[in-house]
Amino acid sequence: PHPSLPLNDGRSIPQLGLGVWRTPADTTAQAVQAALAAGYRHIDTAAIYGNEGGVGEGLRASGVAREEVFITTKLWNAEQGFDSTLRAFDASMQLLGLDVLDLYLIHWPCPSRELYVDTWRAFIRLREEGRVRSIGVSNFEPEHLDRIVQETGIKPALNQIELHPRFQQHRLRGYHATHGIATQAWSPLGQGQLLEDAGIQAIARKHGKTAAQVVVRWHIEMGHVVIPKSVNAGRIAENAGVFDFALDAQDMAAIARLDQAEGRIGPNPLTAAF
Ligand code: A2P
Repeated sequence: PHPSLPLNDGRSIPQLGLGVWRTPADTTAQAVQAALAAGYRHIDTAAIYGNEGGVGEGLRASGVAREEVFITTKLWNAEQGFDSTLRAFDASMQLLGLDVLDLYLIHWPCPSRELYVDTWRAFIRLREEGRVRSIGVSNFEPEHLDRIVQETGIKPALNQIELHPRFQQHRLRGYHATHGIATQAWSPLGQGQLLEDAGIQAIARKHGKTAAQVVVRWHIEMGHVVIPKSVNAGRIAENAGVFDFALDAQDMAAIARLDQAEGRIGPNPLTAAF
C-alpha cells in the first residue's frame, strides 16, 4: 500500500490520490478503476466537478472493498450556510452511493459572503453524526483558518491548496505545520506546466524517471498529500511510480529554486469572484 499521513483527528490519509477535476463525467468511472487497479486507494472529487456519480460507479466496478478506499468530496460555494450544507452533503452522498464519507472539504472560503463559519458548524455536526470521518477545508488562508478555530474550537484536518514547485506556499505551509493541519496540493503538476521545465526534466533523466514522477515525488518528500489528475490509464499508473526512488539534496535544492512570487495558476482565495 501507498504511505499514509496522520491527521489531527486520529485518522490518516493515503499520501497519493487521484484527482478528477476536469475529468469528464463519462470517463470518470474508467479513470477511477484504472487508479484502483494501479494501487491508488484515494480519490478526490467535488460537487462542482459533476462527476461524483462516476467516482461511485468506478469504485463499485473496481472490486476493491469500499473500506480500503479514501474518498473526498467538497461542498460547492453556492451551498454554503448551515442548512444548505446538510442538504448538499446528502446530494453528494446520493451521487457517490456511499453511507460514510472519508473527508469533506469546504471548497473555497468566499470570505465576502461571511458563511464559512456556519458552514463549518454544519461540517462539525456531520462528523458528530458519523456521516463523515474527517472534515477539512480548501483554499483557506491563515485568517480564515484562525476564524473557524476561534469560533468553534475545531481545527480542520487538512487544507487543500494550490501547491506545486512554481508556487510553494511557504507561509501557508508554515502555518499548517505550526497548527497540525495537513497540507494537500491541488494542481500538483502545475496543471501539467511543470512537465515542460528543463530543470525538472534534467532531474528526471538523472533518475530514469519522468518529469511527472519527479514532481509527484517532490510532493511526497515535502510531506504533502498529492492528487495528480489524469484521464489516461498509463499516466495514472506512471504518477504512482514514485515509491522506488528518492530525490537527493541537490534535486530538492534545484526544485526549491523554481518557486515564483507570481507562480499561482488558479484564483486567489481572497479575491476570487465566486
Ligand atoms: P491528462 O489528464 O490528459 O493525462 P494537475 O494534476 O497539476 O492539475 O495536472 C493535470 C494535467 O497534467 C492534465 O492536463 C493531465 O493530462 C496532465 N498529466 C497528468 N499526469 C501526466 C503525466 N504523467 N504525463 C504527462 N501529463 C500528465
